[in-house]
Amino acid sequence: MFHPLRVREIERLADDAVAVTFAVPPELRTTFRHTPGQHIALRRTVDGQEIRRTYSICTPATDEPVLRVGIRLVESGAFSTYALKELAVGDTVEVMAPAGRFTLAPRPGHFVGIVGGSGITPVLSIAGTLLAQQPDARFCLLRSDRTAASTMFLEEVADLKDRYPERFQIVQSLSREEQQAGLPSGRLDEARLRSLLPALLKIDAIDGWYLCGPHGLVQGAERALRALGVPRTHIHEEIFHIDNGAPTAPAAAAPAHSTVTATLDGRSGTWPVHDGESLLDAVLRNRADAPYACKGGVCGTCRAFLVSGEIRMDRNFALESDEVDAGYVLACQSHPVTEQVELDFDR
Ligand code: FES
Repeated sequence: MFHPLRVREIERLADDAVAVTFAVPPELRTTFRHTPGQHIALRRTVDGQEIRRTYSICTPATDEPVLRVGIRLVESGAFSTYALKELAVGDTVEVMAPAGRFTLAPRPGHFVGIVGGSGITPVLSIAGTLLAQQPDARFCLLRSDRTAASTMFLEEVADLKDRYPERFQIVQSLSREEQQAGLPSGRLDEARLRSLLPALLKIDAIDGWYLCGPHGLVQGAERALRALGVPRTHIHEEIFHIDNGAPTAPAAAAPAHSTVTATLDGRSGTWPVHDGESLLDAVLRNRADAPYACKGGVCGTCRAFLVSGEIRMDRNFALESDEVDAGYVLACQSHPVTEQVELDFDR
């Protein structure tokens, strides 16, 4: 469900990024309380067409939540262009309650974030909350950006370093500037991480790894960690951009006629699934309140429990393997393999 929230503040973060803060009225404070690492979906309608995007919350989680997100301009991005060029203080934007499982509820331990570009946004909330609430916790941030001018939240990260010099460690790479200066590329790719991480940290003493950024960076970091012996259960990932060539599951034979039964907010219905369309689109034709944001297999907003039948998912960058094993699917990426499929969005 979306809530209209007023824009309280807009700050320029980098040459192509802003931070937008929303005013949360007292009656919605509980709704908008977030776990560090979560995101919110924003919605606007242009010429009768609805645009939804998810943006991560950058502020620490506190009892008096400040709802602030980082938005970077994406080439021909309908929402980010609007946010950077038109959005003004006092405007109203429709906002969904925080969601997402790329989270760290503060606990003692040593944690690491490996981020690229705007991937810093949720990790800033994770590190800020952890260090403020857990005097025994430590955080190491490895970040990769193109240039200093494009680096988001420079001040906020420097502030963490000032406040927690013993417990917060940062390694910054500027890939483009280092290349231009004729130095070896500072990109945090798989090979660099495999040599850098053991020199920097005691790998098997790390309690959790948080990887966030473009698809290539996250995949490379995951391969490096697996090669260094880090168990899959210690690695958490969130992908911001999907390259066009990102893998999709091989197509399976689809039944000639299929139906989807969906339960949403306690009400159920059964509808036909048209050739090639996703289960989410089939449900949306009949229930406009079905939850979604990215429709790209990234945000996890459309997560549903597969009650019966079989489906094939095109791609999944949002669900952890234990959620898939437990029977959860992304409705926006799912196509029926059996004639009848039943989903439950309430579980
Ligand atoms: S709507 Fe984002 S993963 Fe399906």
